[in-house]
Amino acid sequence: MADQARPQEGPAVGLPLLEDLPDVEGRRVLVRVDFNVPLGHGADGEVVVDDDFRIRAALPTLSWLTDRGASVTACTHLGRPKGRVDPRFEVAPVRARLAELAPGVALLENLRFDPGEEANDPAFVDRLVAGFDAYVNDAFGASHRSHASIVGPPARLPSAAGRLLEREVGTLGGLLVGPDRPFVAVVGGSKVGEKLGVLRALLARVDSLIVGGGMAFTFLAAQGHTVGASLLDAGRIDSCGGLLQEAGGRIVLPTDFVALAPGGSVGAGASGSGEVRMVGVDIPRRWRGLDIGPESAGVFADLVAPAGTVFWNGPMGVFEDDRFSAGTRTVARAVADAKGFSIVGGGDSAAALDHLGLAGRVGFVSTGGGASLELLEHSDLPGLEALRHASNAPGATA
Ligand code: 3PG
Ligand code: MG
Repeated sequence: MADQARPQEGPAVGLPLLEDLPDVEGRRVLVRVDFNVPLGHGADGEVVVDDDFRIRAALPTLSWLTDRGASVTACTHLGRPKGRVDPRFEVAPVRARLAELAPGVALLENLRFDPGEEANDPAFVDRLVAGFDAYVNDAFGASHRSHASIVGPPARLPSAAGRLLEREVGTLGGLLVGPDRPFVAVVGGSKVGEKLGVLRALLARVDSLIVGGGMAFTFLAAQGHTVGASLLDAGRIDSCGGLLQEAGGRIVLPTDFVALAPGGSVGAGASGSGEVRMVGVDIPRRWRGLDIGPESAGVFADLVAPAGTVFWNGPMGVFEDDRFSAGTRTVARAVADAKGFSIVGGGDSAAALDHLGLAGRVGFVSTGGGASLELLEHSDLPGLEALRHASNAPGATA
């Protein structure tokens, strides 16, 4: 690859690309993919792939290799079988879908059936790469894991980032190196503890940081609001208070909620029960705030609309229950309609977008939920670091 075409800034710097592999014709290439996809049941009750987004996302890499005469074997994890063979996590349904989309590409059995994968056991890496001539990592969604199949092979074989990995790192990395302004991030979901690091990293870069979902209550508690029986991470009230101070007004919190009465239940679709009411920023005793209210959703949408860059990760409420989905829907539409470039982190927000038929209207939907947040937090991932040390990486001293 011509050196002037290589990224000069951000986490993509120094990654070996497919063009950096020795000629693959007639060679055996091992491709780590993230085919950790949702499974469901087909018409005859057979297990099928419910959403093949991650499989389709790997096709450019697989066809690049097969078009050049390589013999390609893919490998993936599926679920969390914890180092034991478990029929529920066999890759057979994934293999069937792959055979339709990329005929001739083999798929190994679930990597996580062997405890060596998550333990990053060198003996497991040796067994995995035996018989292969080159390795490609196209598993962006798993590249935040220091697992054997992600970090091991680049020390043993000529290696490259696949097209999906290259695009994910280039696009998300673009948020770290000069996004168009205003740059607005919308972060939701329930676990504030897991997201404090990325919130702090985002604060260093964004013009506004909108916080919704269950995690907002710990911030509101830090401001002295009552949260009723809503989600609260009491041990992190001080950290959230500190972040609010650092932010100097750039953290935007909900001002109203859709709340569920004591004793009510949350359910999928229309199956929940109990009285639901719009309430202000203070939640009544024993009530649970389960979605942002219409005023908050409007304010969030108005901030997102004119943004030059938008990053969204995490729902605004318990959107799988119809009564608490309006906030997430309003934000999803605003992200899809934003003036500038919008990027959606994987997982729940991508699923919500898909559900609303808006996935085609955003600039980029990442295949990695956890991985995209880790990349924004640390500006790097273990899988990228390993590739940069491959013997054929640009600038590597062979
Ligand atoms: C994901 O679905 O987030 C990735 O495939 C990683 O899976 P993991 O969280 O089980 O490591
Ligand atoms: Mg995950």
